[in-house]
Parts: sequence; structure tokens; C-alpha cells
Amino acid sequence: MIDIQQFEHALIELLTEINELTAEAQTAGLKIAEKLKRNERPINKNLLSNEYLAEGSLPVVEQLEDCEATIEALSPARKTLAQYILQMQKKLRWYQRTLEDNLAFMAGHANAQLIGPQGLYISSEIIVGVSLIAPHITYPDHNHPPEEIYIVLSEGLWWQQGGQWFSPGVQGYVYNPENIMHAMASTAKPLLAIWCLNI
Ligand SMILES: [Fe+2]
Repeated sequence: MIDIQQFEHALIELLTEINELTAEAQTAGLKIAEKLKRNERPINKNLLSNEYLAEGSLPVVEQLEDCEATIEALSPARKTLAQYILQMQKKLRWYQRTLEDNLAFMAGHANAQLIGPQGLYISSEIIVGVSLIAPHITYPDHNHPPEEIYIVLSEGLWWQQGGQWFSPGVQGYVYNPENIMHAMASTAKPLLAIWCLNI
């Protein structure tokens, strides 16, 4: 069993060793890591007392099982993050971005907050969430005011305003500056990624 301290420790480790990206991205990683270190986050008792999967969860969450082989090959810190998601999947409040005219997307994606205003652990300073996307689905363009770091836990394609689609790789990161349009797409396997918003 992995506890939230181990999850946060692994996340801090990953956020403080983003050497492959720009100085701006590295600074964002350090800021989020500092917030993680600084404060204790209360447990969201409403979530931890319920088994959300029993009623009202999303069938796409079953795709987590197909991520197990990929997870085995991750670095130790990334493996800890992914295994924690698997372990906590029935406790998370999975939600969707609603796009009524895109049924494939609606059937093929799920998001959940681990830490944040609606997370298992409450924070008003950061949001740490997970996205799961079924094979061959595009998560359409979106943007948001906070800057964001994705910690990639599977194969997948990513896009940013002004650029081409690219593959950061299973051990990669993606940094989205404030308000930039971005998107992601799964390939033949489910896409799994952790995202951190500096709110
Ligand atoms: Fe985003």
C-alpha cells in the first residue's frame, strides 16, 4: 500500500528534477514542489468515506487495468504515482469535461483530483489531478489561467498552441504556460498522466 506521504514525496522528487524543459518550466515545478512541502492538507472526509465507483463512476476507469504493464516499466517515482492512482481509483471522484457533440470523447476520458479544492486531500494552492484517456481518443484543445505541468505515465501525443503534435515519452514532462491552448491524444493504449496546476 502506498500512502499520501509517499505519493507526495515521489511527486516532489519529480517536480524538482525537470531538467529537460525550459527554465520557466523548472521554476514552475519548484514552486509547486514548495507548496507541497509547506502545508499539511486535510483529508476530504466526504470522498474517503464513499466508494464512488459503486454508483456513478465512469466505465472508462476500467482502462486503468490496461495500464499495468506500462506502469511496471516506469521509474520508481513515476511508478509510485501510478500505483497510487490504481490503489485509490474507487475513492476518487472521477469527472468529465462535457462536450455534448463528441460522444467518443465522452465515452473515452475521465479526470480526477487527488489534491485540490475537490481532491481527496484539500488544497486551495495547487491542484494535482489525473487524466485517463481510452485508446485512439483526442482530448480537445483547452486552456486555463494557471500554469501546468503534466507528468507523463504512458505513451501519448501532446500539442501546444503554435507547435506540432509530439511524444514526450513515458518518462517525459509537458509544461503549459498560463492560458496557452493545449491538447493530448492517446495512441493504441490508454493515456495516463498526472497534471499539476499552480493556482
Ligand atoms: Fe490542461
